[in-house]
Amino acid sequence: MTTIGFIGAGNIGSTVAKLAVDAGYDVVVSNSRGPETLADLVAELGPKARADTAAGAAEAGDVVVVTVPLKAYRQVPVEPRKPEEKS
Ligand SMILES: NC(=O)c1ccc[n+]([C@@H]2O[C@H](COP(=O)([O-])OP(=O)(O)OC[C@H]3O[C@@H](n4cnc5c(N)ncnc54)[C@H](OP(=O)(O)O)[C@@H]3O)[C@@H](O)[C@H]2O)c1
Repeated sequence: MTTIGFIGAGNIGSTVAKLAVDAGYDVVVSNSRGPETLADLVAELGPKARADTAAGAAEAGDVVVVTVPLKAYRQVPVEPRKPEEKS
């Protein structure tokens, strides 16, 4: 099953994550404060969801959705998404 990683789990990220779970995808959500702060969202999303660091969500996702404020774009972890590292 395809896993969608989410970097940013605010208004947009959490809404798209809910839609993704409803559509049958596994999701990995992340934010700037750490996975422990996403316990309520993970509980709401159910067993197809887990939280990780932003790098962990990038690594886990077959597809990654980034919904951070524009000012934070330089902090988006691109290393796990390099084509040569992800088949
Ligand atoms: N909502 C709208 O209707 C709307 C419309 C047009 C444009 N936008 C733009 O779209 C973007 C997202 O909107 P939103 O409403 O979803 O924003 P939001 O509710 O403020 O959520 C932003 C998310 O990004 C996370 N984040 C911030 N810096 C991060 C970093 N360095 N690494 C990982 N995660 C990080 C935040 O985590 P923490 O809470 O832990 O910091 C939060 O989960 C914003 O730039 C906004 O201006 C939004």
